[in-house]
Amino acid sequence: CGIVGYVGTQQATPVLLEGLTRLEHRGYDSAGIALLGGTALKVAKKAGRVRDLADGLPKRFAGRVGIGHTRWATHGPANDVNAHPHTDAKGLVAVVHNGIIDNAAALRQRLTDEGVDLASDTDTEVLAHLVGLSDAATLEGKVGDALAQVEGTYGLAVLHADFPDRMVVARNGSPLLIGVGEKEMYVASDLGAIVRHTTTVAHLGDGEIATVTAGGFTTYGGDLRPVTRTAVTVDVDPAAYEAGDHESFMHKEMLEQPAAAARALSGRLDERFGTAHLGGLNMDARETRAIRRVKILGCGSAYYVGQMGAALVEELARIPADAEAASEFRYRDPVIEADTLYVAVSQSGETIDTLLAVQEIRRKGGRVVGLVNVVGSAIARECDGGIYLHAGPEVAVASTKALTNMFLGFALLALQLGRVRDLSIADGRRLINGLTRIPAQIQEILDDEAAIAAVAEQLSEAESVFFVGRVRGFPVAREGAQKFKEISYRHAEAYQTSELKHGPLALISPAVPTVAIVPDDELTDRNVGALHEIAARRGPLVVITHEGVDLGEVDCVRIDVPRNERELDPVLLVVPLQLLAFHAAQRLGHDIDKPRNLAKSVTVE
Ligand code: G6P
Repeated sequence: CGIVGYVGTQQATPVLLEGLTRLEHRGYDSAGIALLGGTALKVAKKAGRVRDLADGLPKRFAGRVGIGHTRWATHGPANDVNAHPHTDAKGLVAVVHNGIIDNAAALRQRLTDEGVDLASDTDTEVLAHLVGLSDAATLEGKVGDALAQVEGTYGLAVLHADFPDRMVVARNGSPLLIGVGEKEMYVASDLGAIVRHTTTVAHLGDGEIATVTAGGFTTYGGDLRPVTRTAVTVDVDPAAYEAGDHESFMHKEMLEQPAAAARALSGRLDERFGTAHLGGLNMDARETRAIRRVKILGCGSAYYVGQMGAALVEELARIPADAEAASEFRYRDPVIEADTLYVAVSQSGETIDTLLAVQEIRRKGGRVVGLVNVVGSAIARECDGGIYLHAGPEVAVASTKALTNMFLGFALLALQLGRVRDLSIADGRRLINGLTRIPAQIQEILDDEAAIAAVAEQLSEAESVFFVGRVRGFPVAREGAQKFKEISYRHAEAYQTSELKHGPLALISPAVPTVAIVPDDELTDRNVGALHEIAARRGPLVVITHEGVDLGEVDCVRIDVPRNERELDPVLLVVPLQLLAFHAAQRLGHDIDKPRNLAKSVTVE
């Protein structure tokens, strides 16, 4: 979900609608805005996209203070009533909220018992009523009273008709920042919403409340004692948040991968000693050498690239490593070991499942480092150290350049862990040489886009597609299937090539194509054998492989990627799979940047 707010001298509505459009990738089930024009509170909200909201606004919808929200439904379906902002019984208070109120059911019951009529199915509505029912003299006091009764996570913004010059915002676990302008102020859950207006921002800390008026802002701790937060000017290019000439952000971000990859490596490779410099890890050589196990946690694509990362750590550093879905981790009461290095991987740095896994580890005394793209995000701040990905802002729900840089981050980490153990200087240099070639090699694959698009057109006709690979190629297949299903809405399933014959082969037919990952490695012969088994069942085949690999007489469409060091192959093998998913979805006419039912950052459990 996304939040934007404005207080100043302009009309708020255009600022809010534009901000919401920029936040839409974070949730696009419904949208709404609330304004204070004089002392009247006006609310407009609607299921659907921001443009549906804009089209339906009353002619006179004026006010110079306002808040807006775009929603990814959790409590209750996406309809007009459940859309934010939510209001209290008297229609004086409006609230927009990201996150989840854990004790909402109990609070709803209590309010109902007290005779309050709840209009929606949401957890957020209770906040509006609690603010409205507080008898504190100030809006900050009312919001403080309300928050004292709730358990859960929130980033929120509140308007009150009796306090028409201000908004009050608060944060606990969901990001919220205040943007400073000339006699006008902004609030947002994400810098992208306001970056065209200001890049001078203050991030609210967890447990803090702030009052924002046209003239400035004041921040308070949970006890409402003032705390000092100063706004700083961040170095971002507003153009990075625009799709420009591209038909979608996903396309733009795929094409940015060579430059993004170069940034991830820049200044971090030490050719002389065949190692990586990762100052942000905050670990000295002794601590690095003491690590006996590596455990990687992430969700969605970050989880799959975590599996690629685990393979890199095992191969280069010979440390047992595995990846696990962060969403499952804390629910199985994990054993936290002092000599395990935990690694949290996240583009946004906000995914609540990953954040809660980090907190669980730290609570039990474990050491966690982050591979995170968004600087200063919750996960980055919560970790003991980390590697920033430097991919630049990623807007499309389907992750591309961030994923590439996650892989490179793992390669750097594995190199550093390896070089204080058994990895030789020669191997270190060999890998550095390989890493340096990656940006240009990604470009080579992207240059083949037209040919890959033609293959994607064929795949888009199938109701169901298998993606298969082995060992290093298996997480690649998983990520390929994930991308394909996310944006094409076709059923796509990943399997180890070796497991095909133990079940899924039953489904192979001329109607079910297979995308097979067959790099030139220790397993090529076995992989080629499996291709024959699929072809014998007349299953159509797309093979992602290296130039010169002999696929025998098998009937297939072949996509060659450039050769690198074997350990680094996955980062190149995955690029054609992005293009396949993208062009299949485009061919099917889907909204590529905003696939149905999904959101870029899932900040609720
Ligand atoms: C959501 C997105 C996925 C993404 C995952 C993890 O589910 O739809 O595309 O991979 O979150 O996001 P993160 O920001 O933690 O990398």
